Amino acid sequence: MDGNGRWAKERGWPRLKGHEQGALNVERICEACIDEGVEFLTLYAFSTENWKRPAHEVAGLMLLLERFLSEKVAMMNRNGVRLTAIGRIADLPGPARKRLERAIGETAHNTRLTLTLALNYGGRDEIVDAVRSIAAEVGERKLDPSQISAETISNHLYTRTMPDPDLLIRTSGEMRISNFLLWQLSYTEIHVTRKLWPDFGAEDLHAAILDYASRDRRYGSSVENLPSPSNAS
Ligand code: FPP
Repeated sequence: MDGNGRWAKERGWPRLKGHEQGALNVERICEACIDEGVEFLTLYAFSTENWKRPAHEVAGLMLLLERFLSEKVAMMNRNGVRLTAIGRIADLPGPARKRLERAIGETAHNTRLTLTLALNYGGRDEIVDAVRSIAAEVGERKLDPSQISAETISNHLYTRTMPDPDLLIRTSGEMRISNFLLWQLSYTEIHVTRKLWPDFGAEDLHAAILDYASRDRRYGSSVENLPSPSNAS
């Protein structure tokens, strides 16, 4: 959800105003995803690096998250949105973590769209956590090191119940992965738009999906011999 700060700066407003507008945009994009038939939407809401921002900005982001989680459960249930989260959730401030857990429980029965918030998330930390849990299984002799495969690693990531993303949309013209879903993005198509997140609307989502639909997904193969992702090299 990149570009909130610049969106506010362009108007001479404090950065938190941009985050506020960015949080409002989440509902609009959830509804647009449902209209497009998208089943999984993952939003990078707070990275492990974001703790380095000024304390008042971090506190403001946590309050916005809490407000979103308490005010938008009704919207999620109306639209069939199941909320989940990835990241080191246990290290979030107590009030935000409790509201998150409650919202996850209250939307668990929904099936139309899985909205995943990446919170206190870092792609490298996710891989570290997966390696630790695989190593623990090896230590307990539940797993033989010779049996460890790419699938074993996928099955130990925070995203183990989700498919790898088809499309990564990067707002505000940034051309970086920024420590997001490092393992899962291996064969993901990337769409970069200059639109700032608060301005990114249903028509921009539609344009991104049309761009995606025009791509020839080859998973490392030649055009003549298109394998499935599991056979990719
Ligand atoms: C990036 O913009 C955005 C963030 C670091 C925070 C996004 C969080 C929210 C919109 C609110 C809380 C979350 C939810 C799900 C309600 P930036 O500050 O890096 O913008 P810039 O690149 O223009 O400076």
